This record gives sequence, structure tokens and C-alpha cells, in this order.
Amino acid sequence: MRKKLIAGNWKMNCSRSEALQLASAIIASASESSAELLICVPTIHLSDIAKLACNSHLKLGVQNAYWQKSGAYTGEISVSMLEDYQIEYLLVGHSERRELFGDTNDEVARKFSAALECGITPVLCIGESLQQREQGITLEVLKEQCQSVIDLVGIKAFNKACLAYEPIWAIGTGQTATPEQAQEVHQSLREFFAQLDKDVAQGLQILYGGSMNAANAEALLAQPDIDGGLIGGASLKPDDFLKIYSLAG
Ligand code: PGA
Repeated sequence: MRKKLIAGNWKMNCSRSEALQLASAIIASASESSAELLICVPTIHLSDIAKLACNSHLKLGVQNAYWQKSGAYTGEISVSMLEDYQIEYLLVGHSERRELFGDTNDEVARKFSAALECGITPVLCIGESLQQREQGITLEVLKEQCQSVIDLVGIKAFNKACLAYEPIWAIGTGQTATPEQAQEVHQSLREFFAQLDKDVAQGLQILYGGSMNAANAEALLAQPDIDGGLIGGASLKPDDFLKIYSLAG
């Protein structure tokens, strides 16, 4: 049985005091559950939040890091620097990274690999644009995004990773994929992985992301191949985020 994972992606939001307040509210109400709870915070707040989160049910992740261990990469933070914190997860390949910061499939694969080397679980984000969906090439695009990672690290590496399907047209737009649309894609993705390794596919947590909120989460999480959510906007509202967590447990 795959556990459900409810993951918040705070993106570039929250001052230090807002971050501490939000994390405290989540920690205070995060009771034991069969579901897992994660927040991916801005890296600058990591140290503060890690102190609050120790001995709680809340897991911590960050939203980006560079794959090289060290060197002349001005402005970057390496995955290996994160090893000293209580980091369990790293988002890689989020569409905002791909679109706004030029992360290529190759770089995404290297970040994925660097996370695994540091014992951090990569969450590989994949998604199609509205134009690609209308052209009928959704699965092609998603498989290509997965394939470049598989080519670098091998299929077994997905035993220690998660996948997040995030249709770009649904991110931050309030326009969610219907539960049926999302399930159709998740099922196809699981079948794609099963062709390479049945056990990996069976164990793989595939999260849905794209305007998941307290009102639509129940129907999405009820789908057999949706194993949780990657939640942006609603993860900044503790009551909504915790409601989604309680629906998943
Ligand atoms: P959203 O963001 O929930 O605000 O659509 C999801 C994401 O980008 O991970």
C-alpha cells in the first residue's frame, strides 16, 4: 500500500516571521496520520524551521539546489550543503524552474541524481503546457521528462523518489485538472514505469499538483493512482493545508 504524501510548495513566499508562524501552525496541528506531511520551504528559512520541526510529524524539503558539490557557481546552493539540515526532500524540475530559470531535462536529471547521492528524496515534477495538451502530446512530453532522468540514474532509483504530475495550465490558475483527467495521466505514467519495472511502478508515489485546495482535494485523492498532492497557494493557508492532510489520512 502506497502512503499518501501531502507536500506544500511555499515558492518564494514568506518573510522570516511569517515563515515561522506558518510552520508553527502546521506543526501544532500535524497529528499522527497514515499520510505523510511535507513542506518545501525557501532555503533561507530552512535552519529556523528545522529547529521547530524536529520531533514533529512534519518533514522538510526545499525547492531547488544545484547539483555540483561546490565551486564557482555564484548565487547557488549545492544539494550537498543541505545534508547538514533535516532535509528529506528536494523538488526538481518544477515548471517554474524550467520556464523561468531555464532548467533543462539534463540539469533536472543531474539534480535528481545529486539528491539521491545525499540521501535526499527527489520529487521529480513533470507537466505539459496547455498548447501541448491541445496538440494531444501530453504523454509524450511527460515521458520525455521522465526518460532523461531514467537514462541518467536508472529505473531502480525511482524506489527512492516521488513523481509529481503538475499540468502547467493548472498551476496557480485556479483551474484544476478534473479527478478523471488527473487519474488518466497518473495511470498512464504508472503503466510507463511498469513497462520498465513493475515493482518500482507499484511503489512509486505519484502526486498531483495544480490548484489543489481544500475543496477539490477529496475527489482528487480518492483516485487510485493519485498518491498525494504538491500544493502551492493552499499550502500558505494552514487551515486549508491541514484540511487536505486530514483528507489524505
Ligand atoms: P498551486 O501550485 O497549488 O498554487 O497551483 C502548485 C505547484 O506549483 O507546485
